[in-house]
Amino acid sequence: MTDDLFTPLTLRGTEIRNRVMVSPMCQYSCDRDGLATDWHRVHLGSRAVGGAGVVMAEATAVESRGRITPQDLGIWSDEHADALAPVAEFVREHGAVPAIQLAHAGRKASKTPPRDGSRPLGPDEGGWETVAPSAEPYPYDDEPPATRRLDRGDVEDVIDSFEAAAERALAAGFEVAEVHAAHGYLLHEFLSPVTNRRDDEYGGSFEDRARIVREVTRRVRAVWPDGKPVFVRVSATDWLPDRESWTVDDTARLAGLLAEDGADLIDVSAGGIHPDQQVPHGGPNYQVPYAERVAEGTDAAVGAVGGITTAQQADAVVRNDRADLAVVGREHLRDPYFALHAAEALDALDRADVPVQYRRGF
Ligand code: FNR
Repeated sequence: MTDDLFTPLTLRGTEIRNRVMVSPMCQYSCDRDGLATDWHRVHLGSRAVGGAGVVMAEATAVESRGRITPQDLGIWSDEHADALAPVAEFVREHGAVPAIQLAHAGRKASKTPPRDGSRPLGPDEGGWETVAPSAEPYPYDDEPPATRRLDRGDVEDVIDSFEAAAERALAAGFEVAEVHAAHGYLLHEFLSPVTNRRDDEYGGSFEDRARIVREVTRRVRAVWPDGKPVFVRVSATDWLPDRESWTVDDTARLAGLLAEDGADLIDVSAGGIHPDQQVPHGGPNYQVPYAERVAEGTDAAVGAVGGITTAQQADAVVRNDRADLAVVGREHLRDPYFALHAAEALDALDRADVPVQYRRGF
């Protein structure tokens, strides 16, 4: 039988009630030091109430200098895990699998949120030194913050931070840990020859550029229970066809290795490494072909994200075996009940998935 959008998906021992995942989306809503607030509980909780199978919390920084903006979530202390625990609990109570994206922004850290222009923070407004594989700042129009090259010991510290963050995420009650290796942030900066100019074991060849993300994945996997899945989000391509850069073929190869390292699902996005990127178009399903290509290279499941906005589209992605999970971002900002509405539209509504308080509305 063909799987469809409402066929449950079991990864390791974890059953996901349908194939809709809320894509991680920064909310820039921390009042203080990366601690979750009521906003995060209401925002993520609403999407669990709305029927999604997996509700993924935004890029959550494994160390404070790894935040994109000072308003990002963090998970670099037990206090952070305590603040996130009610979020995970509410999501789980409402039938969704609570997930968290573990992130480090690398040289794209220390910015203002989009509502303030996404520009680099100056030192007099709380900006900080960013870190990257090489000492080259992101080429902003404005003066960028200083970027320091991580030395060998610093790389070890970053890997340790991902592991400690995973341990805290588990303690907070999350059931999926996603390693953020996409969108031009730290781990992607190691993968791409555009940003990695190292000549030690963390740069140069494909194997050496891929070393850190593989080590992070193995370390997260080692502390994550056998029955719970680990995801990795990748940028399938740098969208820089005219220069040596990270390609879809590289991603397919990496995805095969990540499956060996214990990744259960590759969440396939694209871009973000450099402002010269040539985004082909942003229409319906614009990144789904990358997920299909990446699936050819790996035994892991695959998620497709980008321009999935309707029930029929999401269903077709799964039905036509283009991906195992339909990952929906901005449509979830417009409609927290996307999954319930999709179930109605596809005549697949299970009333048990409608919160009892809302059943008379469906
Ligand atoms: C994002 N995106 C994103 N991606 C990610 O991996 N981690 C993150 O924290 C964020 N944050 C974020 C915030 C906001 C407001 C938006 C709109 C997007 C990217 C997002 O997860 C998704 O990949 C893209 O939006 C494309 O999918 P849609 O929106 O076309 O479904």
